[in-house]
Amino acid sequence: MSAEKPLRRRTAPAIRAMKGGQPIVSLTAYNAAFAPLVDPLCDFILVGDSLGMVEHGMESTVEVDLDLMIAHGRAVVRSTTEALIVVDLPFGAYEASREQAFSSAARVMAETGCGAVKLEGGVAMAETIAFLASRGIPVMAHVGLTPQAVNMLGGFKSQGHDEAARRKIVADAVAVAEAGAFAVVVEGVVAPLAAEITGAVAIPTIGIGASSACDGQILVINDMLGLTPRVPKFVKRYGAIGEAVSEAVKAYAAEVRQRSFPAEEHTYKPRG
Ligand code: KIV
Repeated sequence: MSAEKPLRRRTAPAIRAMKGGQPIVSLTAYNAAFAPLVDPLCDFILVGDSLGMVEHGMESTVEVDLDLMIAHGRAVVRSTTEALIVVDLPFGAYEASREQAFSSAARVMAETGCGAVKLEGGVAMAETIAFLASRGIPVMAHVGLTPQAVNMLGGFKSQGHDEAARRKIVADAVAVAEAGAFAVVVEGVVAPLAAEITGAVAIPTIGIGASSACDGQILVINDMLGLTPRVPKFVKRYGAIGEAVSEAVKAYAAEVRQRSFPAEEHTYKPRG
């Protein structure tokens, strides 16, 4: 038998153990171009179903299916070595029953090699989370603004505006934590609610549009790099990659049109 290779990647239990400690850094990534750049700097990478919107031009994440998630998940796992890779279960792949959720999650883990899956929902998903976690599938939960429910929520709006809504989101977070989720994404809530949730659960809260009152943060990489024309108001741009790409393409197009591109650089050299 060959000697065991040490597991270098961060694991779901390692992320869970970061509760209340050093803030957890995470980003989404969807392909082998960006994932290796993010890998050494993030604790986990989410292959989010936001890829439907930012990589495939869909209106919402509702159109994304399991095959698409698996194709992107494989690219990200193949091109990284350090961060935990979490892959989103898409809309329709887990809500019908805990058995449906297990078969989708097991397929995602076996076919991508990722270390965990994420699903949206609170109290309603607690039984499913417990079922998966007790069968070897680490689950990250997602409460507050849950984009797969956009048609019920009436748009991508911040959540928890009245007392009943606030109570419900706290109850959702507590339910997924007690069910065995190793972390929970908290999206689109105001700072005092994020702080209350973070204090109420024993697992790390990962905020997006939810203030710094969480145990960690996540952003959609295309948004923070300036690759998406319209971004949610809370997103800070850390780069201007869209502009950089446009400038490079403009320079190339100008050289081609003027037949002035450097012949040396664009021509194969004869061998020998
Ligand atoms: O799909 C996604 O990118 C997400 C993040 C916004 C947390 O769920």
